[in-house]
Amino acid sequence: MAGPALVDPFGRRVRDLRISVTDRCNLRCQYCMAEDMTFLPRGELLSFEEIERVARVCVTRFGFDGIRLTGGEPTVRADLATLVRMLAGLAGPDGQPVDVAMTTNGVTLGLVADQLRQAGLSRVNISCDSLRRERFASITRRDRLGAVLEGVDAAVAAGFSPVKVNVVTMRGVNDDEAVDFASFGREKGVQIRFIEFMPLDADDAWSMDQVVPATETVAAIAAVYPLEPVRHGAEPAARYRYLDGRGELGVIPSVTRPFCGDCDRVRVTAEGQLRTCLFAMDEHDLRAVLRDGGSDDDLARAIEAAVGTKWAGHRIGQVSFVRPGRSMSQIGG
Ligand code: 5AD
Ligand code: SF4
Repeated sequence: MAGPALVDPFGRRVRDLRISVTDRCNLRCQYCMAEDMTFLPRGELLSFEEIERVARVCVTRFGFDGIRLTGGEPTVRADLATLVRMLAGLAGPDGQPVDVAMTTNGVTLGLVADQLRQAGLSRVNISCDSLRRERFASITRRDRLGAVLEGVDAAVAAGFSPVKVNVVTMRGVNDDEAVDFASFGREKGVQIRFIEFMPLDADDAWSMDQVVPATETVAAIAAVYPLEPVRHGAEPAARYRYLDGRGELGVIPSVTRPFCGDCDRVRVTAEGQLRTCLFAMDEHDLRAVLRDGGSDDDLARAIEAAVGTKWAGHRIGQVSFVRPGRSMSQIGG
């Protein structure tokens, strides 16, 4: 039986599921992880079968139409293509297909892009915050820019469309690279998306003066490559088109203009905790339902109850804002 759409207390239809498949990563981005992270023991992670069950309930009962795999770094989970194949085979209550995407740091994408594409992955977002080797190494604490750039090429060659490159802009760190990234995106035929730096870093060093407003990034690029805004729906990115026809870019003003009002997502951490917001203070234990022999109905009820607690939005920058106790790699981007 097809269930109702999931609607949260603020009238937003929830239809996008972000699943972290591991808390591990092959980089150590300063804003995300400490160098000496302790990772979850294997048995704490949801198995592929458990992930598939959560996803199946969301898709077949509640009509979710998007799934995004995140981490940590999703490609460090062994045999990820098998999971992609399981998820890409799901269909909604009216038989509609589900779009399976992934956010990756790109380091090992060169090795797995084709395999993931064949398994049914439709789109990839590759995170890369600098095109300068030394700076990249200092941001990520690993000298892997070359591998990431190969990953971008591999994603394009594998036929992912569009390929997006996520850039977290940070004042005094990479705020001088907006135009370089724009040139890179135009040359490679990939869409660059500039994301405002949010307070999710592992070592609690975030401050408002490190945020580069998206408007500033757009202005810097428009001065070199004239742009016009593109009308768009409920997605968080504000999109711009190059007037010369060489593609698009996006900015995600997560701090200066939060998109919470249009938020249609929930997240499941690698150990099966459902979070209704990146900045949520509490988690809903789906793994307990799965491992205590709960039925799909039980799982659906747990998801519904969790969505019933989704709040209006974060309050970054306001005095009432409280940082969540977990950093990005533990929550899943
Ligand atoms: N602020 C903004 N974006 C972040 N990401 C990781 N940490 C932060 C942060 N503190 C980004 C990653 C990746 C996506 C999953 O989230 O760079 O693109
Ligand atoms: Fe890894 Fe992504 Fe965190 Fe960087 S931001 S350490 S690539 S999970």
